[in-house]
Amino acid sequence: MNSRIIIPSRIITADRENRILTSHAVEISGGIIKRIFPASDIIGNSAEYYNDLVMIPGFIQTHIHLCQTLFRGIADDLELLDWLQYRIFPYENAHNKNSLKAAARLGLYELLKSGTTTILDMGTLRHQEIIFEELIHSGIRAFAGKCMMDKNDLFPSFKSSTAGELKQTGELAAEFHNKNEKIRYGFAPRFVLSSSETLLKETAELMKDFRGSVYHTHSSENLNEGRRVEEMFGCGNIEYFERIRILEGKTVLAHCVHVNKNEIDILSKRKVSVAHCPSSNLKLGSGVAPIPEFIKHGITVSLGSDGAACNNNLGQFQEMRLASLMQKPYHGASAMDALTIFRMSNIEGAKALGIDNETGSIEEGKKADLVLVDLNRYSSPLPEGENLYSDLVFSADAGAVKNVMVGGEWLVRNGEVSGYDEKEIIVSGRSELQSLLRRVE
Ligand code: GUN
Ligand code: FE
Repeated sequence: MNSRIIIPSRIITADRENRILTSHAVEISGGIIKRIFPASDIIGNSAEYYNDLVMIPGFIQTHIHLCQTLFRGIADDLELLDWLQYRIFPYENAHNKNSLKAAARLGLYELLKSGTTTILDMGTLRHQEIIFEELIHSGIRAFAGKCMMDKNDLFPSFKSSTAGELKQTGELAAEFHNKNEKIRYGFAPRFVLSSSETLLKETAELMKDFRGSVYHTHSSENLNEGRRVEEMFGCGNIEYFERIRILEGKTVLAHCVHVNKNEIDILSKRKVSVAHCPSSNLKLGSGVAPIPEFIKHGITVSLGSDGAACNNNLGQFQEMRLASLMQKPYHGASAMDALTIFRMSNIEGAKALGIDNETGSIEEGKKADLVLVDLNRYSSPLPEGENLYSDLVFSADAGAVKNVMVGGEWLVRNGEVSGYDEKEIIVSGRSELQSLLRRVE
């Protein structure tokens, strides 16, 4: 089996001790990190040297909507329910296979180029197989699933029947869960306002047949959304989920901005993870999620850029920076330090998805999901390199990413994403968007 040895200037491991290694080599074979050892032990000259680059674990984003990439810049300055009603639902409803493919390709290109190696994607109502095909083509590690909607007062033509949603989801999960070593199913009822109780509960039942899958939905994002939930069920969104007993499997809830004390206890007791989406929460005016409180309660918090229609970027660097900065005015300047945030971008994401034994940090035995970044133009490293966390969280952007490896395979080299022609995906994205807008009801 092909084996390669990589020697960066430093390795930021994100292991339990947060070790930063200097002059160490990483040996990769069969897609796995076989050995991390002092570079001085190398015999012969077969290693790949990256003397100017720092190795970090690949970013893990636990809330993405690839289908929304084409809607960047045409859904600005609206709050959640209006944004969904007047922009996103009509646009998603108008997707055909070609426009969905163009959206997924643009999104995956941006994600890989900016160092993301694993995603949890929410999918869309129709043509989910196209998203799976594009995920497989890209080489990224992914949990994904058809977005399920069996009611929709905001835009009634954008939904399907309960039985139809469950049947299609079961078929897609049977086909794509563990399709290859990188692809798993993420069951995705969209949110309470578009999911009947039967759909939410039956999805949790269905998920039990697919070991290693996750349950992925939005929760408690916006005050008006929360008011509607309260009117319908007389309680908070997460309290409702607990009442109907859908939080017992591996669950990732996106946003969790407006939650009460009881709901924080529920998240903690049920080991539910929160996918924190700082840019989206700010841009849609949703609010500031109580992340320090979640962390105090031992809740796993990971990051996501949500979609290009509410961010309007898909990189993890902006999410890290904002996840720290947005809390400081409320909790003081020492809140959400760079190391805490950095771990949210990798190992905490792996925990959220139940794959922390296989990725999320640079350790022997884990999958080789790695990124090489150029941090030279930022701070001058202290002897132990601890200020590299600060460079990564507060200073760097996607331009720092040079090489990206997923499962032992280079998908980005010198900033070039393999398998994509940048000009081609931009041009076809534009033309697909023009056709889609003509189809909008
Ligand atoms: N709630 C229901 N659907 C969506 C969506 O597409 N994006 C966000 N941010 N929240 C949602
Ligand atoms: Fe979302």
